[in-house]
Amino acid sequence: MIPKPSLDPERLLQELEQLATYSDTPKPAVTRVVFSPPDLEARAYLTRLCREAGLSLRADGLGNLFARWEGTAPELPAVATGSHYDAVPYAGMYDGTVGVLGGLEAIRSLQRAGFQPKRSIELILFTAEEPTRFGIGCLGSRGLAGALVPDSLRELTDSEGRSLEELRQIAGYTADLDEVLLPEGFYHSFVELHIEQGPTLEQEQVPIGIVTAIAAPASLRVTLEGRGGHAGTVLMPERRDALCAAAEIILGVEAFAKNSGSINTVATTGLCEVYPNAVNSVPSQVRLEIDVRDVDPQRRDGVIRSIIQGVEQVGTRRGIDYNVQIVNLDPPAKSGTEVLRALASACGEAGVKFKPMVSRAYHDTLFMARVCPTAMIFIPCRNGVSHRPDEYASPEDIARGTYILALALAHLSYAEDKPSEEKPGAPKDSPPIFID
Ligand code: GLV
Ligand code: MN
Ligand code: MN
Repeated sequence: MIPKPSLDPERLLQELEQLATYSDTPKPAVTRVVFSPPDLEARAYLTRLCREAGLSLRADGLGNLFARWEGTAPELPAVATGSHYDAVPYAGMYDGTVGVLGGLEAIRSLQRAGFQPKRSIELILFTAEEPTRFGIGCLGSRGLAGALVPDSLRELTDSEGRSLEELRQIAGYTADLDEVLLPEGFYHSFVELHIEQGPTLEQEQVPIGIVTAIAAPASLRVTLEGRGGHAGTVLMPERRDALCAAAEIILGVEAFAKNSGSINTVATTGLCEVYPNAVNSVPSQVRLEIDVRDVDPQRRDGVIRSIIQGVEQVGTRRGIDYNVQIVNLDPPAKSGTEVLRALASACGEAGVKFKPMVSRAYHDTLFMARVCPTAMIFIPCRNGVSHRPDEYASPEDIARGTYILALALAHLSYAEDKPSEEKPGAPKDSPPIFID
């Protein structure tokens, strides 16, 4: 019943190359921040490709785009795939985009093969998976899953004080934010194709990873306020240097993660803004953004508690005012057994070896898992490198992942009418476990 997908790998690669040209930084670095000119160019390009494939398009108020290949039973919940196409500063050309253009090529390969879906198959192009502009990752999929309610969305601003509300309207997404949340049972299942962003598949020479769970990410924003002054005249006993306090806190972040008792705990202070940032001025204000993740959310939260206590201790000892804001504290996601089964049998059909694995990076699937059963397909990337201009996935691996995706989508499109009994990975409303 399922014909062999008829892939056009060359076209897919050309499209990946073309998408990479929409960037604020010169090749090979890709920088594509949500609602920036390159992001808007990428949207126009991808929209055109979806239309050319005969898909019907709609957008929500956040700028999430949905391209639907209507099935013979359009009233049934659709099978979805997709990923993001925004890129962190000085990134490469494969993170997210492989799942966007691979998802489109998977659909086209089934069209070429004469396949007719029963459930509709929908490609989702998520808005802003990367936290670059608004400080929180998976903006589009959070909205779809109701993990960020419209009132919170309306409050978001970028570092220049421009609001999401303003920027989305300028980009042409004027629909009501109250309608972003997907209705219950909208999708039957969701599969995301992505580069691994880690070294395991390459090291173990396994061509496909099937993601069984996604580690739980969290992030904190710490603001510190000390006392500024002249670097020559404020004597050392008088100092209340906010950057020195930050330095202690940053080392604490590293130490707490290293001493968690598990290699699975990771913590990063990836952003440090210093005011006034001048060589001959004592730093008076610092803003830190800290990312903490673990497959075990309790252990992660223990590290977060230690970081918060560390901020309190350093701040008190150094006479620095501090504020800690928990930006997000997301639960992990578990893949759905039915979707995992579809991926495993697609690999079996294609004669491809696979490895079940956990994703340490987060993805839009983390939030789609609250909407419907999900799973992800990973392909190897060179040296495990990602979020760097030299990120690379081979044409063969991209084509293989796309082929497996196409087979899985075709099978899921004919899967039983009733989705699996299991509940999606996490509750809709997942309040922070603790907030100070
Ligand atoms: C996604 O880009 C992540 O930070 O895991
Ligand atoms: Mn990324
Ligand atoms: Mn990604």
